[in-house]
Amino acid sequence: MRQVFDPIEHGTWTSAVVGLGYVGLPLVVTQAEAGIPVLGYDVSRETIDALAQGRSHIDDVSDGELAAVKELARFSADPADLAAADVVFICVPTPLAVGKQPDVAFIERAAEAIAGALRPGQLVVLESTTYPGTTSDVVQPILERSGLKLDEDFLLAYAPERVDPGNRSFGTANIPRVVGGVSADSTAAAEKAYGRFLAKVHPVRDARVAEMAKLLENTFRWVNIALVNEMASIARSIGVDIWEVIDAARTKPFGFMAFYPGPGVGGHCIPLDPFYLQWAARLTGEDARFIELAQVINARMPQVVVSRLQDALNDRALALRGAKVLVLGVAYKPNVRDYRESPSLEIIGLLQHAGAVVSYADPHVPEVDDHGVRLDAVEATPEAVRDADAVLILTDHDDVDYAAIAADAVLVLDTRNACRRRGVHSERVVVL
Ligand SMILES: NC(=O)c1ccc[n+]([C@@H]2O[C@H](COP(=O)([O-])OP(=O)(O)OC[C@H]3O[C@@H](n4cnc5c(N)ncnc54)[C@H](O)[C@@H]3O)[C@@H](O)[C@H]2O)c1
Repeated sequence: MRQVFDPIEHGTWTSAVVGLGYVGLPLVVTQAEAGIPVLGYDVSRETIDALAQGRSHIDDVSDGELAAVKELARFSADPADLAAADVVFICVPTPLAVGKQPDVAFIERAAEAIAGALRPGQLVVLESTTYPGTTSDVVQPILERSGLKLDEDFLLAYAPERVDPGNRSFGTANIPRVVGGVSADSTAAAEKAYGRFLAKVHPVRDARVAEMAKLLENTFRWVNIALVNEMASIARSIGVDIWEVIDAARTKPFGFMAFYPGPGVGGHCIPLDPFYLQWAARLTGEDARFIELAQVINARMPQVVVSRLQDALNDRALALRGAKVLVLGVAYKPNVRDYRESPSLEIIGLLQHAGAVVSYADPHVPEVDDHGVRLDAVEATPEAVRDADAVLILTDHDDVDYAAIAADAVLVLDTRNACRRRGVHSERVVVL
């Protein structure tokens, strides 16, 4: 490695994080906690102003944690400030464009901002989830437009973020990190850099391996969720309780990993990432039939939930049209406020379309405005629960009194098995 990269070699580097969302902000805090001076950069003025005032917008980062690192972590919306950092991490969104095509425009904008401030000695690391080849084919040419050269002036690597919002056992600091550079020096530098603040780093041959490893992980979840959703339908048709089946299967100490059925797949990662892989596969003429099949099964789950609710109401001589439905939980997973791609929104939309009168309660989400659904949360008071013709559990947050819900409700459709998992059993609770 050239002398210009000495701060990285000797562990005296400073850093910058581009994009301060669910991935970027915990990365800022983790580095600062390890004693590394770090600049958080974001295009959102609102985000920067809030952070500069010590207010976090991310569930996994408390205001107290921000206050504890305020000497080392500072925030800016000025891309020129990126020049001061030796290592620059990119943590911007990677959504899907129309037709479920990868949209790497945020990565391009971030790379352009970095290129505008690029100086000899910097290591740039892309953390956003993306298709194999993005780091070398999209980011590298943009950085080289600055006139600086890979290996001589700057280094470039990919290191996928695996953070699992709401997970209290694993966070940025203790999740093993895969790193792959677009050159051997880049891999070595990224391994050194992460080794300064993370427990375990796993270097791989190059950036493409690291990019594909992330997509394999998330596609694995996606197809296994589809498999278990299909199993749930089969179990129901033959009169077997899928939850009991899974509990039995998971006693096998090897060769089985439990996945659970649910109302659909949400969040910014699992429902999107497989399409990045499918797109990359198609470019090479390869089919990705598992991914397609999983999409068909997972995408129909909101409709399955609505049909199931309709059946349960029908059993009580009630129609869905005009029924009062109280939805419990709109976040895409427990104990977070993120409702991006949450199946709850689609389900609420379908219920409204069928003429149901829908309200929702979610201690983490005060209002929703997405997929044509605009609602403010209500409190799941005993009166509200009693007043509903059906309570529909879509997210199993911990801070909900499921025993009280089951006691007060006329009918509960529990798509997460949230009640029984907490020892709450009632004739009025039906599972998906
Ligand atoms: N959220 C997760 O659980 C998770 C886990 C692993 C990987 N990822 C991946 O990490 C990436 C980021 O996801 P996220 O959930 O943190 O996104 P996010 O939407 O929470 O945050 C992204 C941030 O980037 C900012 N931004 C957008 N364009 C920018 C630019 N050009 N320059 C600077 N800032 C910019 C936005 O203002 C926002 O604050 C995605 O590729 C995602 O797939 C997410």
